[in-house]
Amino acid sequence: MKKYFILILLMLFIKGDTIMNFYENVKQVKNPSDILVLVNKNNRLDKSYVPYDLSNIDTKYANENKMVRKEAKEAFEALSEEAAKEGYRVIAVSTYRSYDYQENLYNYYVETKGLAYADACSARKGHSEHQTGLSIDVEGSTGTYDEFGETKDFIWMKDHAHLYGFILRYPEDKTYITGFKYEPWHYRYVGKKAAKEIYDKKITLEEYLDKIH
Ligand code: DAL
Ligand code: ZN
Repeated sequence: MKKYFILILLMLFIKGDTIMNFYENVKQVKNPSDILVLVNKNNRLDKSYVPYDLSNIDTKYANENKMVRKEAKEAFEALSEEAAKEGYRVIAVSTYRSYDYQENLYNYYVETKGLAYADACSARKGHSEHQTGLSIDVEGSTGTYDEFGETKDFIWMKDHAHLYGFILRYPEDKTYITGFKYEPWHYRYVGKKAAKEIYDKKITLEEYLDKIH
């Protein structure tokens, strides 16, 4: 009997999202401009927060005018340039998103696909890392961003993004921590030191910051 109880507890823990209380006990982010800022389902940005140093990514590396914070822009341009040199294509397609833009995007998913789908892949207003100006969705040589995981460009990204300070933010097996399903196209700038440790240890930003809820 005791064995089964422990097994059930273990299953609940692994499933995670049933006991992680996403969108409960939400904290207001106090350090929005910090490169290591944590924005997730339990840490929310102010409606008024707009990064102070948003800069356009050179259109050589983005599909149109796309803005991120200056440090992330410089790192991404170097990454995209090196990818191209080695025969790959890694182009920014979604970058800084305002609070209002994210609200509309999330509502669109709720209306067209339902709440569960929306919450698995889209952050609610104030909860999107895209509002930090430190996140970039990319596309490769073929298809759109949502097919990036099937490209050779993704294979390159998996082992090179950290060298430029980016991490794969929503890994396949970490949904119970991040609250979002696998997003092979979404990269977050954290700087080279943190990116290397997160890559080497195969952990999430939450684990790196030791702030799992
Ligand atoms: N797709 C990511 C989780 C966002 O909406 O910010
Ligand atoms: Zn994204």
